[in-house]
Amino acid sequence: MGAEEYVPYKDPRQPVDKRVKDLLQRMTLEEKIGQMVQLERANMTAEIMRKYHIGSLLSGGGSVPADRASPRQWVDMVNTFQKGSLSTRLGIPMIYGIDAVHGHNNVYKATIFPHNVGLGVTRQVHIRIGAATALEVRATGIPYAFAPCIAVCRDPRWGRCYESYSEDHKIVQMMTEIIPGLQGDVPANFQRGTPFVSGKLQLVPSTFVGDGGTVKGINENNTIVTQNELYSIHMPAYLNSLDKGVATVMVSYSSINGVKMHANRELVTRFLKRKLKFRGFVISDWQGIDRITSPPHKNYSYSILKSVNAGVDMVMVPYNYTEFINGLTDLVNKKAVRIQRIDDAVKRILRVKFAMGLFENPLADYSFADKLGCKEHREVAREAVRKSLVLLKNGKSAKSPVVPLPKKASKILVAGTHADNLGYQCGGWTIKWQGQEGNNLTAGTTILKGIQAAVDPTTKIVFKENPDTKYVKSQGFSHAIVVVGELPYAETAGDNLNLTLPYPGPEIINNVCGAVKCVVVIVSGRPLVVESYVPKIDALVAAWLPGSEGRGVADVLFGDHGFTGKLARTWFKRVDQLPMNVGDTHYDPLFPFGFGLETKPSN
Ligand code: BGC
Repeated sequence: MGAEEYVPYKDPRQPVDKRVKDLLQRMTLEEKIGQMVQLERANMTAEIMRKYHIGSLLSGGGSVPADRASPRQWVDMVNTFQKGSLSTRLGIPMIYGIDAVHGHNNVYKATIFPHNVGLGVTRQVHIRIGAATALEVRATGIPYAFAPCIAVCRDPRWGRCYESYSEDHKIVQMMTEIIPGLQGDVPANFQRGTPFVSGKLQLVPSTFVGDGGTVKGINENNTIVTQNELYSIHMPAYLNSLDKGVATVMVSYSSINGVKMHANRELVTRFLKRKLKFRGFVISDWQGIDRITSPPHKNYSYSILKSVNAGVDMVMVPYNYTEFINGLTDLVNKKAVRIQRIDDAVKRILRVKFAMGLFENPLADYSFADKLGCKEHREVAREAVRKSLVLLKNGKSAKSPVVPLPKKASKILVAGTHADNLGYQCGGWTIKWQGQEGNNLTAGTTILKGIQAAVDPTTKIVFKENPDTKYVKSQGFSHAIVVVGELPYAETAGDNLNLTLPYPGPEIINNVCGAVKCVVVIVSGRPLVVESYVPKIDALVAAWLPGSEGRGVADVLFGDHGFTGKLARTWFKRVDQLPMNVGDTHYDPLFPFGFGLETKPSN
């Protein structure tokens, strides 16, 4: 038996850069281009992974191996694809990515944390949320999460506003502390820009840059900014993320002053890679390069040319791989894309794969399966819910507070479309891309169930979604809790120019409040137009999109904990005021940024 040839890239004792260099010089153009491709898992096979040397796969929103798939089914799926990649000539493992934007949100029975709009309120370092999310993602065999979203939403008409922590970049910067939770702490001598992974997750701060500042909040649109606004509002959190070792950055669909980010060489290459010294890889958004042209995909060769030359390293294609591979191969052969650019992209991708130990541990096992949706994580989520609620009104004056409500009362009415609807309280990006209504989508506790569990056993809770006033008056209720709000949405489907409270929310408030002392809880991804209802409401709570742990709402309504949340967004009066953010000269909010009444625990 002859001695096996020593292959430096396979040797984990070698430094990462040496391994990258060794591997790169062994690769053909075809193998290099394959590394730059990310495909959606649907219709994918291990054979395609092998044949085209595909570098990465993803689950798009709602894309799962099977309905209600278990962690084992997820792990088996990821491993099957991985075996295809490992069977290639050079055995380069693929990297599997997924959006984990409020917990591992595509996965049945995962813990669903409040959306970022609620987490911003807590202003707390949610390292524990990051760590819990990382474990749940790992439980399904996935090493790569597209999170956190560090957009600074400057206009709540934007359908992705709830993915943003705040209108204030300082809060967004503070919340990047979720990153060490997701991927571990960087060592003391860490150099900014180097991809860092301590064996947990590798992360994308999606998405680069300025997507929270588009005109009228129109998704994927144009952000018109001065240099100063760009660097002082939208950019700072990227620096914090780089300091924390994020390994990948996703480019946003939007434009900056008319230049599509996917074609923005100035910002992607000159600024992010050269000036900030980012050494991880830049990934496109889903068909993001297609959208460089209008209509999308009009000239795909041009899209490939512009994006790769701008500095995009991995392309979320995500379906037509031959079109992308042939297109890029042509451009390289014609020298429209230089081979040095391809080498740079591949080096960055390989660097991340080596740094995260993927070559040594390419296959996942079942050892974290019991972490998915486990009790400890649900407790963290429940705590986050409590701290994310903002009490906007509490009685006619401070002398006559309505909350905390007594646990012992004869009869309490719970009303509203959102009181007993897990899907509504989780919002978009939950099981399905656009979210889903009802209580059958996944495991969790509705706000109603939380209330029922919180009160004294002798207190009668009556649930009626939309009761008429006569009924409300005749039943002898001591209080009513009305839970209303927005219906689930994600991305462009959530763009909304009027931001009114959806029907029948206003009707329910009118029927109940006035007939009995009422607490209104608003479940929404952003502030809504509520000024005209406030006088008839006795207590008003902004609950944002709390996720699977509805008990957190009852925890503060019934005084087991106090209200502490402070608005991380301006609660405007009318949409004609927008955009209106803290510090603006025309600032005239209904409730200002930073506002939030407090209560003391009563038990
Ligand atoms: C979204 C991204 C997401 C991608 C993959 C796109 O529509 O804009 O945030 O990462 O889909 O699911």
